[in-house]
Amino acid sequence: MSRFVPVALEHASRLVNHGPTVLVTSAHGERRNIMAAAWSMPVEFTPPRIAIVIDKSTYTRELIAASGSFGVCVPGAAAIDLTYAVGTASGRDIDKFDAFGIQSTKGQILGVPLIEQDCAAWLECRLISEPHTEAAYDTCFAEVVAAAADERVFANGHWSLDESNAELHTIHHLGAGKFARASDVRQARALPR
Ligand SMILES: Cc1cc2nc3c(=O)[nH]c(=O)nc-3n(C[C@H](O)[C@H](O)[C@H](O)COP(=O)(O)O)c2cc1C
Repeated sequence: MSRFVPVALEHASRLVNHGPTVLVTSAHGERRNIMAAAWSMPVEFTPPRIAIVIDKSTYTRELIAASGSFGVCVPGAAAIDLTYAVGTASGRDIDKFDAFGIQSTKGQILGVPLIEQDCAAWLECRLISEPHTEAAYDTCFAEVVAAAADERVFANGHWSLDESNAELHTIHHLGAGKFARASDVRQARALPR
């Protein structure tokens, strides 16, 4: 059963603020795809905008250029193997959804594939055409038009990570298939001065 609930757009940037490795989904006509991306970040709160480096050689870039949209799904620790698998195979060779048994729904606004199983959140993103940054730096800007998150880890605009939801803690790529989980949350306190 899905525990995803809508996230207010003014809070959408918080879903990627801490730099999780994400899954970028794309579709055009009958074609669909998914890849891993470690290089993403928010660039504006309202309207929520993000930037992601997506190499121009990827099948993902081809589908995003054709459709003008993509999905960003935030995998939990339960999806580490899946994240690495979709980041080390190309959709030009296989349908990764079929090959890895990935269940997806269609975003209501842009129709992009969205994954909830073993994920903490998703964002539907409309590409902001920036031909120079796309060509020179492989950096794609987008506006987030809808977002949702699993209420067990993100509710009322805030992450809540503890032992009860460890498999939904976001993941951070250290290199060569090793990931760290976002855990051990600490609250900053004011320094005496
Ligand atoms: C953990 C991980 C993080 C990655 N991060 C990025 C990234 O930020 N940008 C990028 O272009 N490729 C990244 N990649 C590589 C792509 O996911 C990979 O090239 C993928 O096969 C492209 O798939 P596609 O051709 O089906 O689009 C990453 C791979 C892994 C395993």
